[in-house]
Amino acid sequence: MSDLKIEQYEYIEKLKRIVKNNYLETPSFCVVTFGCQMNAKDSEKLAGILELVGFREIIDENAADIVIFNTCTVRENANNRLYGRIGQLKTSFYKNENKIIGICGCMMQEKSEVEYVKKKYPYVKLIFGTFNLFKFAEILYEVISKDKKVYEVIDKPIEIVENLPMKNKYSFKCGVNIMYGCNNFCSYCIVPYVRGRERSRNADDIIDEIKLHIKNGVKEIMLLGQNVNSYGNDLKDEKCSFKDILLRVSNIEGLYRLRFMTSHPKDFSYDLIDVIKKSKTICKHIHLPVQSGSNKILNSMNRKYTREHYLDIINHIKSEIENISITTDIIVGYPTETEDDFNDTIDLIKQVEFDSVFTFKYSKREGTKAALMDGHIADDIVSKRFDRLLEVVREIADKKTKQYIGIESEALIEDIEIDKKMFVGRLDNNYLVYFPMSKKNIGDVVRVRLKEAHNFYFVGEEIV
Ligand code: SAH
Ligand code: SF4
Ligand code: F3S
Repeated sequence: MSDLKIEQYEYIEKLKRIVKNNYLETPSFCVVTFGCQMNAKDSEKLAGILELVGFREIIDENAADIVIFNTCTVRENANNRLYGRIGQLKTSFYKNENKIIGICGCMMQEKSEVEYVKKKYPYVKLIFGTFNLFKFAEILYEVISKDKKVYEVIDKPIEIVENLPMKNKYSFKCGVNIMYGCNNFCSYCIVPYVRGRERSRNADDIIDEIKLHIKNGVKEIMLLGQNVNSYGNDLKDEKCSFKDILLRVSNIEGLYRLRFMTSHPKDFSYDLIDVIKKSKTICKHIHLPVQSGSNKILNSMNRKYTREHYLDIINHIKSEIENISITTDIIVGYPTETEDDFNDTIDLIKQVEFDSVFTFKYSKREGTKAALMDGHIADDIVSKRFDRLLEVVREIADKKTKQYIGIESEALIEDIEIDKKMFVGRLDNNYLVYFPMSKKNIGDVVRVRLKEAHNFYFVGEEIV
């Protein structure tokens, strides 16, 4: 066991005692998560520690004794949303002065944001960043035992601390980091600055974690990394590529479904296609962000692939795996984007016929290369392009989903919705299907027939 891990378990024990002594009733916590799957995973680690030391989870941040905001800074609107929420908590803080409000995550890796919080929201008691999240127990202990504020952000990772507590949000599915950080420095993106360089986890640690999840009833695993295709490049003691780890995980006994996110086109290796095609567990869905269809923009974005290379990958995937679902991310209004560049993006989307497209208006992030570029695009132009893009995406989704009507497929029931009369299930290809409730439960796998298509989801019926 690493020293850092032993130390944290000692703090967990100390916290258990102090929580028992300090609170008359079981205190509550609420972790509010912004951003991507990595943050969702980090929040599960925070929740795991909080629960282990004696707090119970509630969803009302106003009522909770501890609220932790796990932040994202990838686009500016994520920042604005956070400050709105923290401002709203002021009243509940002054009603309960023992309330602990904390902020962590990517935004706190930016010095200017920490300064802003200090000045504007003095009632925030703890701040930590992405690199010292594993020290949460220690930081919380300092705050509770000494009744003081702790603001601790470090600017580099220390080591990967394995096997800290974790409380999965869902009983039937969970994300598992295979790596942390990113080396790519796409010119618009803040992630490499707030998450550091790529660090791959040891394959055995990944496998052990997944086996444990499966033992606890998890059916679907999603392997997580900002660029999963470069998994293993930095491993010193072993040789293991993304394809290797994908194969190993896909063969773990008891696993029903395996997904992974996110693939980067520059590192996407063609031999992966065969692995996905032959596997019973790997889902027939690939999320492959293209960002733009213009070579000029792709080059300026530092994406390191061309439109032609991207289309070549897609053609290979489609010709090898029938009915595979392909999704992507697009940024609209990147500096210097002309009408022609944007039309290239629209054209690429029409050629590929993505099942779904996550669309983002370019957001200027201080510290990135693109922020310093000339040629920022006016908001009204960006909005117009964005609306045009959505229209195209919707038309394609409409056409694609109609092709699936009548098909039978397996769905993993994830949720209950619409006045509790419908199950929400996820298909292998990542589409959602709504169907009337039966005696089955969340987490069960059922066969469904797809009856109606609604752009990005289906309505169906269970086949009994
Ligand atoms: N590592 C992943 C994506 C992480 S961020 C990848 O490379 O694909 C998720 C998405 O947010 C990106 O794919 C991009 O489309 C979008 N994004 C990142 N920075 C952005 C910015 N400054 N403005 C608008 N969208 C951005
Ligand atoms: Fe950001 Fe690019 Fe890294 Fe993705 S690959 S996280 S977009 S820098
Ligand atoms: Fe946001 Fe950090 Fe993820 S900036 S997108 S939460 S890595």
